[in-house]
Amino acid sequence: MDNKTPAVKMRNITKTFGPTVANDKVWLDIYRGEILALLGENGSGKTTLMNMLSGIYFPDEGTISIDGKDVVIRSPKDAFDLGIGMIHQHFKLVDVLSAAENIVLGLPGKLDLKAASQKIREICALYGFEVDPAQKIYDMSVSQKQTVEIVKVLYRGADILILDEPTAVLTPQETDKLFAVLRNMRDDGKAIVIITHKMHEVEALSDRVAILRHGQFIGDMPTRRTNAQEMTNMMVGHAVTLNIDRPDPVDPKPRIEVKGLTVRNIEGIIKLDDVSFTANSGEILGIAGISGSGQKELLEAIAGLQPVESGSIEYIGDDGSREQLLGKDPLAIAELGVSLSFVPEDRLGMGLVGNMDLSDNMMLRSFRRGRSLFTDRRTPKQLAETVVRELEVSTPGVSTPVRRLSGGNVQKVLVGREIAAAPKVLLTAYAVRGLDINSSYTIYDLINRQKAAGVAVIYVGEDLDVLLELADRILVLCGGKVSGIVPGRGAQKREVGMMMTKLGGNSHE
Ligand SMILES: Nc1ncnc2c1ncn2[C@@H]1O[C@H](COP(=O)(O)OP(=O)(O)O)[C@@H](O)[C@H]1O
Ligand SMILES: [Mg+2]
Repeated sequence: MDNKTPAVKMRNITKTFGPTVANDKVWLDIYRGEILALLGENGSGKTTLMNMLSGIYFPDEGTISIDGKDVVIRSPKDAFDLGIGMIHQHFKLVDVLSAAENIVLGLPGKLDLKAASQKIREICALYGFEVDPAQKIYDMSVSQKQTVEIVKVLYRGADILILDEPTAVLTPQETDKLFAVLRNMRDDGKAIVIITHKMHEVEALSDRVAILRHGQFIGDMPTRRTNAQEMTNMMVGHAVTLNIDRPDPVDPKPRIEVKGLTVRNIEGIIKLDDVSFTANSGEILGIAGISGSGQKELLEAIAGLQPVESGSIEYIGDDGSREQLLGKDPLAIAELGVSLSFVPEDRLGMGLVGNMDLSDNMMLRSFRRGRSLFTDRRTPKQLAETVVRELEVSTPGVSTPVRRLSGGNVQKVLVGREIAAAPKVLLTAYAVRGLDINSSYTIYDLINRQKAAGVAVIYVGEDLDVLLELADRILVLCGGKVSGIVPGRGAQKREVGMMMTKLGGNSHE
């Protein structure tokens, strides 16, 4: 591959935003017929670099050439004319329009939806996408919307595709589907750049990796000649331990007891079916299951945010007293010390106010959730400073408006806020969704510290490998039912995976 002309050659690219040097004399080659993984911690300049290829930003310095010819990319249209298409982290589709209407939106010429739909079906057949041209965006899952975005750039003739953290919003199954179409596109000769933080995805999908650190190009190499440890060390700049501690629970006592919990959604479909379990203080109870198995409803039911059909959820106090949580409002439950941190598929609408600074966003939580902050006598500013320091949030300071932070950094603030403020019970779902590897390990560490402090942690995760390392016990959900509860230590990935897809796995309890 090295003796071919690169599809894209970026040389000495520098881009600054005020005092921030987002890209510092970066060079990068992208080849056709190859999937390149662009790696780096949050804030290392990956999105900025790709935004200069897709015409969103213009470099302060440096040159870009396409197929050996120097080019100037001043707008997204220039990028499209050069065959470059980018799928952004936040989709730009019009909700009330159909897939086909969105795909042709803004194209010159007379609108012929029938012809467009035909061409869309051809693209889908060629690469293995599933898109119904007539389906409205508001009716689509996140994964379907992402597919529309990809088809949209292909429709416009892109043969250099950039995907910015596409799997952050996908389930493992949806990710597999996406990877299959990306491989088909690569085999068809397209050049593909993918930004992802998940090492096993990098290893499974990419042919080559390129690494950025603090805006600088650190190196690139064929994926098969490196490994997760080396890539992580290069991203972070020093050796990182890729181990998750699992200290033994200290004096675990029942904290939350769920019995016969049954929940239906608004359409009357059963989401939780006779679910029973106990969550102990000082213990991490991991919840495994394929997406949509009832994880969300379970956490929301405990937090008082989900109407329940039948069953019981009891909170057991330090003195052994029991309180029924069903029927209590979310604020009253929060005041017992139950904290919910749910990172949704779309990270933006996550309970942070973009125009407010970090400290004020901390305060927002204390308003919402009552006493926890005041009992620890920490001011919102101190809490913000702690979160920024512990999670290495890259921000000029705690008085920076949250909207100026990158997506990953916003998430660190949000998750850090909830984890740090959990006095008794921490309900957390998808805490590391889209976070870089170093931040993910910091979050695991933070969760372990809450466990050590006696918090009952209920952890919903997407990464089964991590669940197996982190959780003391793993409850497996399958179609809203508990298919088993197994000890984390010694649990086999295959066995848990099977329990995720069928009921009646071995329960060791
Ligand atoms: N529009 C912008 N205004 C100010 N700073 C920005 C802007 N876009 C990115 N940055 C800053 O540039 C740096 C690199 O950001 P980004 O390219 O988004 O990193 P990554 O995608 O690797 O997480 C960060 O410090 C970020 O805060
Ligand atoms: Mg980014």
